[in-house]
Amino acid sequence: MKKLEVFGATKPKGQIKISGSKNASLPILAATLLSDKKISLTNLPKVKDIETMILLLKSLGSSIEDNKKILTINNNKQIKTFAAYSLVKTMRAGILVLGPLIAKFGKAKVSLPGGCAIGTRPVDIHLQALSKLGVKYKIIQGYVHANAPKGLVGANIKFPKISVGATENLIIASCLAKGKTTLSNCAIEPEIKDLVNFLIKMGCNIKWTSNRTIKIEGIKNLSEIKYKVMPDRIEAGTYLIAAALTEGNLKIVGIDPKIINTEINIIKKLGAKIIQKKNEILIQGSKKIKSINIKTSPYPGFPTDLQAQMMVLLCKANKKSYIREEIFENRFMHVAELNRMGAKISINGNKATIEGNIKFEAAELMATDLRASVSLILAALTAKGKSVINRIYHLDRGYEDIEKKLKKVGAKIRRVN
Ligand code: EPZ
Repeated sequence: MKKLEVFGATKPKGQIKISGSKNASLPILAATLLSDKKISLTNLPKVKDIETMILLLKSLGSSIEDNKKILTINNNKQIKTFAAYSLVKTMRAGILVLGPLIAKFGKAKVSLPGGCAIGTRPVDIHLQALSKLGVKYKIIQGYVHANAPKGLVGANIKFPKISVGATENLIIASCLAKGKTTLSNCAIEPEIKDLVNFLIKMGCNIKWTSNRTIKIEGIKNLSEIKYKVMPDRIEAGTYLIAAALTEGNLKIVGIDPKIINTEINIIKKLGAKIIQKKNEILIQGSKKIKSINIKTSPYPGFPTDLQAQMMVLLCKANKKSYIREEIFENRFMHVAELNRMGAKISINGNKATIEGNIKFEAAELMATDLRASVSLILAALTAKGKSVINRIYHLDRGYEDIEKKLKKVGAKIRRVN
């Protein structure tokens, strides 16, 4: 079982290039099932979840060539409509193939994602909304058996709750539905905008008509395209927090600061000096870190995917802070491990109270989920001595070359068996 050794304390200094966005790549890869023309994608991050999605597409019959820079997808062969549990269980975004399969082929058998460390991950909002487009479905032995023999018909759908995945599934499915679809109360994460840009470039007829409402007119033919996936804002936010935490001095390149405005403003408020340029962010962490009360919320609020990382930073604040996790029901798995490093964090329901002025101690640690694992690395960067982080397969799902990128800016970190 691979693990990471981190020798603290270090103050990272230098330049980090941001990779492509995992959470934009996954819906875009799923959406390629709509087309039987050639699609070339660049800037996909080399992370496990992308590998798993590619395996899922190949299991459905997509022919995929990957020359490391460009991924070329062709669906001109017979596409199967069965997405197996063995692939979907490790990557919940596998449910995103349901929308395109049902839209293109009128039927699909897709494994329910099942739960994960951060929550039960239900897909009821996806299914209820798809049924408004004319999908009939049954859940049998952990699989969604869906069909729409007469094809999908456009409808007006208002999501009962903001859901990134449900918004993505419905946008993709509506592209081939007959007539007009209006989706309201949509999630508007930048990754969804990137998916929409990809679909429009493929020839789909999509317009954002107001903040959380989108109108889609079904079309029949899609065109061959080349598309570059957007950069990963959560990766960028993670490295900004790393600099703020360690009094580090980083130049984060390859991302438009506008898409992480909320995070930048919060980190500035906590004391870090940040200069924003067209496609890069300069950050100098400050000795004194202020405390804050924040809650996670859908974009443009503070992202749940940076909650664990922010919690580490607030352990170093000069006073007590509070974080409320409003998106997932169990996203405090990192707290126990951080407390083993000397943090004083208490949980009451979805609210975490974080004592400040903490000096992290190096320790042997266990990663539990993707973002929790990176929060342990952040804490280990500030702790004197050697920390060991086990089960880093969680980390490899979503951070490309993290030890290479951190080593390049002076961190002492290595992967061991
Ligand atoms: C996406 O997950 C992201 N994953 C998550 O990132 C991210 O944390 C989440 O959005 C919120 O921003 C990808 O994009 C691949 P949701 P998703 O549907 O789509 C509940 C990471 O670390 N819900 O917006 O699954 C759900 O349980 C990952 O990169 C229902 O109740 O999130 C959750 O409490 C983790 N029924 C809330 O809504 C449904 O049908 C938000 O979930 C769907 C969701």
